[in-house]
Amino acid sequence: MKIDLLTIFPEFFGQVFDFGIIRRAKLAGIVEINVYDLREFATDKHKMTDDRPFGGGDGMVMKPEPIFAAVESLLGTCDRDAYPKGAKVVLLSPQGHPLKQSRVRDLAETVDRMVILCGRYEGIDERVNEALVTDEISIGDYVLSGGEPAAVVLVDAMVRLLPEALGSETSAENDSFSNGLLDCPHYTRPAEFRGMKVPEVLLNGNHAEIESWRRQKALEKTKKFRKDLLEGANGECG
Ligand code: ADE
Repeated sequence: MKIDLLTIFPEFFGQVFDFGIIRRAKLAGIVEINVYDLREFATDKHKMTDDRPFGGGDGMVMKPEPIFAAVESLLGTCDRDAYPKGAKVVLLSPQGHPLKQSRVRDLAETVDRMVILCGRYEGIDERVNEALVTDEISIGDYVLSGGEPAAVVLVDAMVRLLPEALGSETSAENDSFSNGLLDCPHYTRPAEFRGMKVPEVLLNGNHAEIESWRRQKALEKTKKFRKDLLEGANGECG
């Protein structure tokens, strides 16, 4: 997958993709991540990327010209219907579709080229949405000062699901949400720490009992913190 990030704060991304699974995926050629400064695509001499809103009101709005120029340069067209197959232009904003594991999985499976627009200020000129954006995504019901942290979340969640990214020792199958439930609790050595014992069932090597305990704990956790997830859960946790 090739991911291009468009931002007015390219330095924000610094080394954020240079750790763990994302780093490994980059080194293995599973993903390529490029960060572009939107100002580089600005057309006026002051390199403006924002302007005052028509109709008045607070804040500034991101101008359409630099964004159209950037998408045209990256995808070869500003015509959404003519984007290369498997390409998406994603706008991160609090107004977007809520990001869920199912959507992350769908993107990881079907997209091989993604341009991510990190919104700022009060918003982006709506013509960007009308003409360029294929998916508007929110990472949650709260307002960030910009789309950059949301872009890190989206990239991380997608890249770890790309084939081969997790490596053979790990698996995404048992992640929270992958079966409609939160993940079950995990323990490692020592079996007793400061008087706190690891549940006996995990030490006895009986895989059927362990599986049943994990499923029970996953259900308990989900019931406690995320009752809304329980409808539609198939309840396997391993
Ligand atoms: N930009 C500001 N808030 C956001 C959110 N909740 N999700 C995605 N992008 C955002």
